[in-house]
Amino acid sequence: MKKILLLLLVAFIVIQFFQIDKNNPPVDQNQDFITMYKPTDEIASKIKASCYDCHSNESKYPWYSNIQPVGWFLKNHIEDGKRHLNFSEFETYSPKKQAHKLEESYELIEKGEMPLSSYTLIHKDAVLTEAEQTTLIAYFKEIEKKIQAQE
Ligand code: HEC
Repeated sequence: MKKILLLLLVAFIVIQFFQIDKNNPPVDQNQDFITMYKPTDEIASKIKASCYDCHSNESKYPWYSNIQPVGWFLKNHIEDGKRHLNFSEFETYSPKKQAHKLEESYELIEKGEMPLSSYTLIHKDAVLTEAEQTTLIAYFKEIEKKIQAQE
Protein backbone atom coordinates (compact mmCIF):
# COMPACT_ATOMS: atom_id res chain seq x y z
CA MET A 1 0.00 0.00 0.00
CA LYS A 2 2.77 2.41 0.94
CA LYS A 3 4.55 1.59 -2.32
CA ILE A 4 1.46 2.39 -4.36
CA LEU A 5 0.97 5.73 -2.62
CA LEU A 6 4.60 6.60 -3.16
CA LEU A 7 4.32 5.67 -6.82
CA LEU A 8 1.21 7.85 -7.19
CA LEU A 9 2.98 10.74 -5.53
CA VAL A 10 5.96 10.39 -7.85
CA ALA A 11 3.65 10.22 -10.87
CA PHE A 12 1.83 13.33 -9.66
CA ILE A 13 5.10 15.20 -9.29
CA VAL A 14 6.39 14.07 -12.67
CA ILE A 15 3.28 15.22 -14.56
CA GLN A 16 3.72 18.72 -13.07
CA PHE A 17 6.64 19.12 -15.47
CA PHE A 18 4.22 18.89 -18.40
CA GLN A 19 2.63 22.30 -18.14
CA ILE A 20 0.12 23.55 -20.71
CA ASP A 21 0.83 26.40 -23.12
CA LYS A 22 -1.15 29.36 -21.81
CA ASN A 23 -0.27 31.76 -24.59
CA ASN A 24 -3.24 33.03 -26.55
CA PRO A 25 -2.88 33.60 -30.28
CA PRO A 26 -2.81 37.34 -31.13
CA VAL A 27 -6.26 38.93 -31.31
CA ASP A 28 -7.33 41.11 -34.22
CA GLN A 29 -10.31 42.98 -32.79
CA ASN A 30 -11.59 43.67 -36.33
CA GLN A 31 -12.23 39.97 -36.73
CA ASP A 32 -13.99 39.69 -33.40
CA PHE A 33 -17.70 38.91 -33.27
CA ILE A 34 -18.44 41.69 -30.77
CA THR A 35 -16.63 44.32 -32.85
CA MET A 36 -18.49 43.17 -35.97
CA TYR A 37 -22.02 43.01 -34.65
CA LYS A 38 -21.88 45.46 -31.73
CA PRO A 39 -24.26 43.95 -29.19
CA THR A 40 -25.25 46.12 -26.22
CA ASP A 41 -22.64 46.24 -23.43
CA GLU A 42 -24.82 43.98 -21.33
CA ILE A 43 -25.03 41.28 -23.99
CA ALA A 44 -21.36 41.66 -24.92
CA SER A 45 -20.18 41.17 -21.36
CA LYS A 46 -22.46 38.15 -20.91
CA ILE A 47 -21.11 36.50 -24.06
CA LYS A 48 -17.57 37.26 -22.89
CA ALA A 49 -18.18 35.86 -19.43
CA SER A 50 -20.04 32.75 -20.62
CA CYS A 51 -18.33 31.78 -23.86
CA TYR A 52 -15.02 33.55 -24.44
CA ASP A 53 -12.80 31.38 -22.24
CA CYS A 54 -13.39 28.45 -24.59
CA HIS A 55 -14.48 30.11 -27.82
CA SER A 56 -12.04 32.96 -28.36
CA ASN A 57 -8.34 33.79 -28.40
CA GLU A 58 -8.83 35.59 -25.08
CA SER A 59 -8.97 32.54 -22.79
CA LYS A 60 -8.17 33.27 -19.18
CA TYR A 61 -6.44 30.47 -17.34
CA PRO A 62 -7.25 30.11 -13.62
CA TRP A 63 -4.45 29.36 -11.11
CA TYR A 64 -5.45 25.70 -10.89
CA SER A 65 -4.59 25.27 -14.57
CA ASN A 66 -1.02 25.08 -13.21
CA ILE A 67 -1.93 21.80 -11.54
CA GLN A 68 -1.91 18.77 -13.80
CA PRO A 69 -3.97 16.94 -14.90
CA VAL A 70 -6.48 19.79 -14.31
CA GLY A 71 -4.66 22.04 -16.79
CA TRP A 72 -4.74 19.32 -19.45
CA PHE A 73 -8.48 18.96 -18.99
CA LEU A 74 -9.03 22.74 -19.35
CA LYS A 75 -6.69 23.05 -22.32
CA ASN A 76 -8.48 20.21 -24.05
CA HIS A 77 -11.85 21.98 -23.66
CA ILE A 78 -10.40 25.23 -24.94
CA GLU A 79 -8.79 23.64 -28.01
CA ASP A 80 -11.91 21.64 -28.75
CA GLY A 81 -14.19 24.64 -28.18
CA LYS A 82 -12.19 26.90 -30.47
CA ARG A 83 -12.08 24.30 -33.21
CA HIS A 84 -15.87 24.40 -33.29
CA LEU A 85 -16.33 28.12 -32.81
CA ASN A 86 -13.88 30.97 -32.37
CA PHE A 87 -15.51 34.36 -31.75
CA SER A 88 -12.11 36.06 -32.16
CA GLU A 89 -11.92 34.85 -35.76
CA PHE A 90 -15.58 35.21 -36.61
CA GLU A 91 -14.91 37.56 -39.49
CA THR A 92 -12.87 34.90 -41.29
CA TYR A 93 -15.95 32.65 -41.50
CA SER A 94 -18.13 32.74 -44.60
CA PRO A 95 -21.57 34.34 -44.01
CA LYS A 96 -23.12 30.90 -44.28
CA LYS A 97 -20.82 29.50 -41.62
CA GLN A 98 -21.38 32.53 -39.38
CA ALA A 99 -25.15 32.08 -39.55
CA HIS A 100 -24.78 28.37 -38.88
CA LYS A 101 -22.55 28.90 -35.84
CA LEU A 102 -25.06 31.34 -34.38
CA GLU A 103 -27.85 28.86 -34.97
CA GLU A 104 -25.87 26.17 -33.17
CA SER A 105 -25.14 28.66 -30.39
CA TYR A 106 -28.77 29.47 -29.61
CA GLU A 107 -29.78 25.83 -29.96
CA LEU A 108 -27.14 24.77 -27.45
CA ILE A 109 -28.10 27.59 -25.06
CA GLU A 110 -31.75 26.56 -25.40
CA LYS A 111 -30.85 22.99 -24.48
CA GLY A 112 -28.71 24.22 -21.60
CA GLU A 113 -25.62 22.53 -23.07
CA MET A 114 -23.59 25.72 -23.38
CA PRO A 115 -21.81 27.03 -21.41
CA LEU A 116 -20.54 23.62 -20.28
CA SER A 117 -21.77 22.66 -16.82
CA SER A 118 -18.25 21.67 -15.69
CA TYR A 119 -17.40 25.33 -16.33
CA THR A 120 -20.40 27.04 -14.72
CA LEU A 121 -19.89 24.90 -11.64
CA ILE A 122 -16.83 27.02 -10.88
CA HIS A 123 -17.42 30.18 -12.94
CA LYS A 124 -20.61 31.48 -11.39
CA ASP A 125 -20.50 34.65 -13.50
CA ALA A 126 -20.84 32.46 -16.59
CA VAL A 127 -24.17 30.98 -15.48
CA LEU A 128 -27.05 32.10 -17.71
CA THR A 129 -30.29 32.82 -15.90
CA GLU A 130 -33.44 32.00 -17.80
CA ALA A 131 -33.85 35.67 -18.69
CA GLU A 132 -30.27 35.87 -19.93
CA GLN A 133 -30.76 32.73 -22.00
CA THR A 134 -33.82 34.29 -23.61
CA THR A 135 -31.92 37.51 -24.32
CA LEU A 136 -28.93 35.72 -25.86
CA ILE A 137 -31.12 33.39 -27.92
CA ALA A 138 -33.08 36.35 -29.31
CA TYR A 139 -29.88 38.24 -30.00
CA PHE A 140 -28.14 35.38 -31.83
CA LYS A 141 -31.32 34.79 -33.86
CA GLU A 142 -31.46 38.46 -34.80
CA ILE A 143 -27.85 38.47 -36.05
CA GLU A 144 -28.38 35.18 -37.87
CA LYS A 145 -31.31 36.76 -39.77
CA LYS A 146 -29.26 39.86 -40.51
CA ILE A 147 -26.47 37.75 -42.01
CA GLN A 148 -28.90 35.63 -44.02
CA ALA A 149 -30.57 38.76 -45.40
CA GLN A 150 -27.24 40.01 -46.69
CA GLU A 151 -26.21 36.72 -48.27
C1 HEC B 1 -15.68 25.38 -20.71
C2 HEC B 1 -15.59 25.62 -22.11
C3 HEC B 1 -16.79 26.09 -22.90
C4 HEC B 1 -17.61 27.16 -22.65
C5 HEC B 1 -17.54 28.14 -21.49
C6 HEC B 1 -18.54 27.24 -23.76
N1 HEC B 1 -18.29 26.22 -24.64
FE1 HEC B 1 -19.21 25.88 -26.41
N2 HEC B 1 -18.05 24.22 -26.73
C7 HEC B 1 -17.09 23.75 -25.87
C8 HEC B 1 -16.55 22.51 -26.38
C9 HEC B 1 -15.47 21.67 -25.70
C10 HEC B 1 -17.23 22.25 -27.59
C11 HEC B 1 -17.04 21.09 -28.56
C12 HEC B 1 -17.55 19.81 -28.07
C13 HEC B 1 -19.03 19.80 -27.84
O1 HEC B 1 -19.79 20.06 -28.79
O2 HEC B 1 -19.41 19.53 -26.69
C14 HEC B 1 -18.17 23.35 -27.77
C15 HEC B 1 -19.00 23.47 -28.86
C16 HEC B 1 -19.78 24.58 -29.11
C17 HEC B 1 -20.45 24.83 -30.37
C18 HEC B 1 -20.35 24.00 -31.61
C19 HEC B 1 -21.21 22.82 -31.67
C20 HEC B 1 -20.95 22.04 -32.93
O3 HEC B 1 -21.63 21.04 -33.10
O4 HEC B 1 -20.07 22.40 -33.73
C21 HEC B 1 -21.12 26.01 -30.23
C22 HEC B 1 -21.97 26.69 -31.28
C23 HEC B 1 -20.87 26.49 -28.88
N3 HEC B 1 -20.05 25.60 -28.23
C24 HEC B 1 -21.38 27.66 -28.38
C25 HEC B 1 -21.10 28.15 -27.10
C26 HEC B 1 -21.68 29.36 -26.57
C27 HEC B 1 -22.63 30.27 -27.32
C28 HEC B 1 -21.18 29.51 -25.31
C29 HEC B 1 -21.53 30.58 -24.32
C30 HEC B 1 -22.92 30.77 -24.03
C31 HEC B 1 -20.28 28.39 -25.06
N4 HEC B 1 -20.28 27.58 -26.17
C32 HEC B 1 -19.53 28.19 -23.91
C33 HEC B 1 -16.64 24.37 -24.73
C34 HEC B 1 -17.23 25.49 -24.14
